[in-house]
Amino acid sequence: MTRAGMEGETAVAALNLRRMRESDLDLVTELEAQAYSQPWNAHVFVEELNQPTRTYLVIEDDQTVLGYAGLMVVGTEAHVTTVVVHPDRREDRLGTRLMLGLAAEAIEQGAKSMTLEVRVSNEPAQRLYRRFGMAPVGVRKKYYQDEDAMIMWVHDIEGTDFAQRRVEIEESLR
Ligand SMILES: CC(C)(COP(=O)(O)OP(=O)(O)OC[C@H]1O[C@@H](n2cnc3c(N)ncnc32)[C@H](O)[C@@H]1OP(=O)(O)O)[C@@H](O)C(=O)NCCC(=O)NCCS
Repeated sequence: MTRAGMEGETAVAALNLRRMRESDLDLVTELEAQAYSQPWNAHVFVEELNQPTRTYLVIEDDQTVLGYAGLMVVGTEAHVTTVVVHPDRREDRLGTRLMLGLAAEAIEQGAKSMTLEVRVSNEPAQRLYRRFGMAPVGVRKKYYQDEDAMIMWVHDIEGTDFAQRRVEIEESLR
């Protein structure tokens, strides 16, 4: 094995995806404040964590939490509530890993489609979501106080096409 290969494997092995805990909230709210103009405070996160329909994941290395993401599953619809990656660690596929985690949770919980709202100007996020087959279906006017939201959906997430897509995305991370 080449030295570069060994280093690559070590870096990947150090990442861990797990459920968010209340003890993560100091770090999570710090990331939240860096990511959004109207950030949720710890109280809102505690309420979210206690809702049975919600699933929040964090991605961490052996030092710290590097990002988090949330999902609300109602019936057969899974709504992605948030995806945030530490500003210094963006474009390093952590958002992709979080979305893979959310997709697995959505399917596990019986969802057949995933949806979300995203700022019309947020191209990095839209690009991430498109990789998961999410397509724009409309706009919610002034969903954010200062901007419209694009609504994106992907259907049949329990089917073989989406399973294949997840496999391809997972393989691209290796
Ligand atoms: C959106 C966000 C979560 C993406 O996380 P990330 O870890 O940087 O994303 P990834 O590295 O997994 O990249 C996923 C895809 O988006 C693309 N992308 C990510 N950031 C990009 C950027 N700044 N410019 C262009 N493309 C970008 C990547 O190239 C990749 O596409 P590819 O797979 O076709 O190469 C991150 O930018 C973030 O935390 N933003 C602030 C919070 C936010 O806006 N969240 C979304 C709310 S709806």
